[in-house]
Amino acid sequence: MDKIVIKGGVPLAGEVMVSGSKNAALPIMMASLLTSEPVVIRNVPQLRDIATALSLLHNLGVEGRWLDDHTLELCASRIISHQAPYELVKTMRASFFVLGPLLARTGRARVSTPGGCAIGARPVNLHIRGIRALGTRIQMRHGYVEAHADRLTGARIWLDTPSVGATENILMAAVLARGHTTLENAAREPEVQDLARMLNAMGAKIRGAGSHVIEIEGVERLHGTEHTVINDRIEAGTLMVAAAITGGDVLVRGACADQLKATIAKLQESGIEVTPEADGLRVRRKGPVRPVELRTLPYPGFPTDLQAQMMALLAHGEGTSVITETIFENRFMHALELLRMGADIVMKGPTAVVRGVPRLSGAPVMATDLRASSSLVLAGLAAENTTEVHRVYHLDRGYEALDSKLRSLGARIERVPDRGAS
Ligand code: EPZ
Repeated sequence: MDKIVIKGGVPLAGEVMVSGSKNAALPIMMASLLTSEPVVIRNVPQLRDIATALSLLHNLGVEGRWLDDHTLELCASRIISHQAPYELVKTMRASFFVLGPLLARTGRARVSTPGGCAIGARPVNLHIRGIRALGTRIQMRHGYVEAHADRLTGARIWLDTPSVGATENILMAAVLARGHTTLENAAREPEVQDLARMLNAMGAKIRGAGSHVIEIEGVERLHGTEHTVINDRIEAGTLMVAAAITGGDVLVRGACADQLKATIAKLQESGIEVTPEADGLRVRRKGPVRPVELRTLPYPGFPTDLQAQMMALLAHGEGTSVITETIFENRFMHALELLRMGADIVMKGPTAVVRGVPRLSGAPVMATDLRASSSLVLAGLAAENTTEVHRVYHLDRGYEALDSKLRSLGARIERVPDRGAS
């Protein structure tokens, strides 16, 4: 197990390239189950979660190979298992996204429910309700969803909340259903849109991805394709905050302004200069970080996956910010560690009141989940003295070589074995 050691205080400078989107690549990889022909997926980030998804698909019979560092070829010419085991689904919740494509392709699936995680209960009731509406017989037994469907049939489905995963799971089932499906109150995230683009390139008939109503005309079968995954808007936002929190000047190449409108608006409101350039976003901070009110919302609102990073930024500077987390019920774990670095944060239910302090002080801290770990790294970049972030395996789930990217911008950051780790 490694830890990351940071000596704070260096204003980051230069340019850095964003990797492919984890949250687009994962469902897109599961979509390979929908055809017996090969699919080539480009701009896939090298992450632990991608490796987990590959082993899950391999267990199901999918042949996968890396054509280069970021290009995957997947071929589900034959399905040898219909089961996604607890060990894998527990490790990575996105494994649950095989339910829809497995059912659509083979008519059977036995998928473990993911259970909760550090940030919340993470139920899958909306996934199940939508898949059942498509004519699936579903039983819950021993922690597994056991599903059968001779042939899925199109339906009108309403999602109580615009769940990203439920939208993607249902989409991947409906594309091979008989007849028409209307999915209402669907998630609008760019990652949903990217999945729909690839499915249409495979021969699916999907309209309206990116809006709240997605229309799907079922087809008999899908064929192979080549697809390039969009860049990771959450990694882009994380790198933008790294520039802001250190008072630096960084070009985040591959950051897409159109997918980061809420984030750009909040950063600008807090005194950060964000300037669109030819192939990315330039981020600078000269003056103090100003306080803001921030509320996480489904896309295109402010992303919950950047809430922890923004809290680290707003913990610096003047005035009092208010952060409200409306998506997950327990996503302030990073605040407890920021407090140990001298932050002034008071939490009450879904709201955190953050009073800026001139500077945080370095300390040994512990990551609890993916985005919390990036928040602690960001805090360490600006804090005085040394910060040690433990349990960085959380970071490796969702960030490709973040420490070396930050080092290339001048950060004094090292990854070393964590001898004291239990
Ligand atoms: C996706 O998770 C992302 N993961 C998450 O990113 C992201 O935080 C989340 O969307 C919200 O944007 C992937 O795409 C792999 P949801 P997902 O279903 O699909 C409730 C990261 O850091 N809900 O949109 O699991 C749920 O409890 C990760 O990269 C139900 O009630 O999120 C939550 O409150 C973390 N029933 C809300 O909806 C359901 O059946 C949004 O969850 C499903 C969800």
